Amino acid sequence: MVADILIGEGLDVDIATNGAEGLAAFKNRNFSLVLTDFRLPEMGGIELLAAIRKETKQLPVVIMTAHSTTRLAIEATRKGAFDYLIKPFKTKDLIDVVNRALEASRFTARKVELGVDAERVDRDAIIGNARAMQLVYREIGKIADKNVTVLIQGETGTGKELVARAVYQHSRRSNEPFIAVNCSAIPENLLESELFGHEKGSFTGAATARIGRFEQANEGTLFLDEIGDMTLETQVKMLRVLQEKKIRRVGGDQEIPVDVRVLAATHQNLEEAVAEGKFREDLYFRINAALIDLPPLRKREGDINMLIQHFTSLCCRETGIEPPRFEQGVLEVLENYNWPGNVRELENFIRKMIIKSNGFPITLEDVRKVLARTSLASKPELDGKDFKYGSHIDAILLAAKSGEISKPYAYLIEELEREIIARSLIHCEGNQSKPRSFIRI
Ligand SMILES: Nc1ncnc2c1ncn2[C@@H]1O[C@H](COP(=O)(O)OP(=O)(O)OP(=O)(O)O)[C@@H](O)[C@H]1O
Ligand SMILES: [Mg+2]
Repeated sequence: MVADILIGEGLDVDIATNGAEGLAAFKNRNFSLVLTDFRLPEMGGIELLAAIRKETKQLPVVIMTAHSTTRLAIEATRKGAFDYLIKPFKTKDLIDVVNRALEASRFTARKVELGVDAERVDRDAIIGNARAMQLVYREIGKIADKNVTVLIQGETGTGKELVARAVYQHSRRSNEPFIAVNCSAIPENLLESELFGHEKGSFTGAATARIGRFEQANEGTLFLDEIGDMTLETQVKMLRVLQEKKIRRVGGDQEIPVDVRVLAATHQNLEEAVAEGKFREDLYFRINAALIDLPPLRKREGDINMLIQHFTSLCCRETGIEPPRFEQGVLEVLENYNWPGNVRELENFIRKMIIKSNGFPITLEDVRKVLARTSLASKPELDGKDFKYGSHIDAILLAAKSGEISKPYAYLIEELEREIIARSLIHCEGNQSKPRSFIRI
């Protein structure tokens, strides 16, 4: 059943019926994730975990456990399990943990190359030769193998996550665990427990103890994304951990030593946040021992063109669409656009255009139309945190309210439908009959 669900998510799944079989498969193939039951014939989940950990500290292992063995599964997270799922679990919980684990896997498994040129189509490269980017590469080189805390600052979509991976991969801890926590994705009241763990019964809902991410990342690296969103109280605790190198679980009285290198990222201007009293000055000074400031795309001269080539060949390779010709004037328009969503916006834009063009030339008119629409969509930033498409829907609704769009409902549904179809085609390498078997309209 678990395999069926994951295959339905577009994943490639191998099944083993006991630990030994699983271990043999692990030795034969490069997996991104292991999901294992706790009790298994011949070799149990914990033994399997230990055997895998002997080979690699990075492949995420998620343990599925019955309620009665939860305590042991929690203990396993100390021994390097990525997380555990208590049976029976909901499909959503399964997919959540699998997605998190795959993201972690992607982080560690795929090397990020710096400043390569666009001809070398590699999914995980930081493309760009602008002077401002060369300074970034130099900075990465300077600080990667030092044991200092690094603060990565830059507007949304400028590549902060890629830089964090590059720093980790070039560090002395590159064979040790890498754990990422997105501070803005976790409800405020749960972030502390996520980071530091908690003891059983320490708050309502804490039915079992839990190991925090700091303990899990011991000897390795912890990536704190959107650290600017941390509450002031959590910031106090963060500062203490960084200074004393010890954590205390929520509701616990024991001090547990941890050796963790912290990489932090934020799209906010922390200096301003400090001035406004939203971010603690002492923590700010503590984390920006090394600072990497990613320039916005509009300030990277020459890079837009290079990135367009890069994303065009990437997308064409994935979809099997013939690389389209760009009509005269198109590149100029794109180079002069200000890209508020930076590289991510550019990437999404190119993908959209390529799929739309389906190999035919990309016209100036098309480009203008799509650009007008994306800048419209990225205008008002209402609170879209709880629902992935929230802020986009708000933007369209507001546009409808002010009369810029006449049928927001049909518009959104159509847009989503187009996206689902386009993406499933990408998953099937452009084979148009394949998506039918799993989209199930
Ligand atoms: N210089 C670059 N070369 C190639 N791809 C890039 C570059 N910068 C960013 N990207 C791609 O753009 C997307 C966004 O990058 P990333 O997630 O690192 O941005 P971010 O700064 O963390 O954004 P956010 O603030 O929204 O979290 C990713 O798909 C990434 O691979
Ligand atoms: Mg990011």
